[in-house]
Amino acid sequence: MNAERRFRLGVLGSGKGSNFVAIADACAAGRLPAEVALVITDVPDAGILDRACERGLRAEYLPPGKFRSKLDEEAEAAYIAALQAAQVDLVVLAGFMRIIKAPMLRAFPLKIVNIHPALLPSFPGLESWKQALEYGVKVTGVTVHLVDHGIDTGPIIAQAAVPVEDDDTPESLHARIQRVEHELYPAALARIFAGDLKIEGRRTRRVPAA
Ligand code: GAR
Repeated sequence: MNAERRFRLGVLGSGKGSNFVAIADACAAGRLPAEVALVITDVPDAGILDRACERGLRAEYLPPGKFRSKLDEEAEAAYIAALQAAQVDLVVLAGFMRIIKAPMLRAFPLKIVNIHPALLPSFPGLESWKQALEYGVKVTGVTVHLVDHGIDTGPIIAQAAVPVEDDDTPESLHARIQRVEHELYPAALARIFAGDLKIEGRRTRRVPAA
């Protein structure tokens, strides 16, 4: 990817869409050399659909099929077809609560990114802010990473720490994490679009042009 053109993003989300909003607004304001080509949700009444429509962006609900934690074969094929038809360069998971399987990884190799509400490899999976509170850590955070075959295991692009306060509830901690997410996700995408991100095994690093 180079910095001259506008990258086409396909955003997948299952929830209220605040990370999508941060990214779409960064694109609209010219802070990212990108545009949202398509938003897909697996939840018919997800807030992300309304947030996309308010911004005049193409958004659709695609049924996920018969499983709870992943798309079924037919659904995954429909998601891939929609993303390919929209000619997306990068698939951006923004609170998409299903595991991405091999067909989509093959269709978009090293081109699927995710945001996770913890400092991976701590607290993978669901409701990581609750996991952090229950464990009693004093610092948690946010991770943006490429998606691979594991659950929240792909190469890390960016991380930021978030303090855990003594009187935090799950809600207050998640709200603090989300404020950091809204800064970190656009910043991590900017690193990808800059085109100088090298992936060596698990490690990613920037290699500035000579
Ligand atoms: C975000 O906190 C994101 O990190 C998390 O879901 C929330 C979605 O919020 N994702 C995961 O937990 C993925 N395992 P949003 O819909 O407001 O962007």
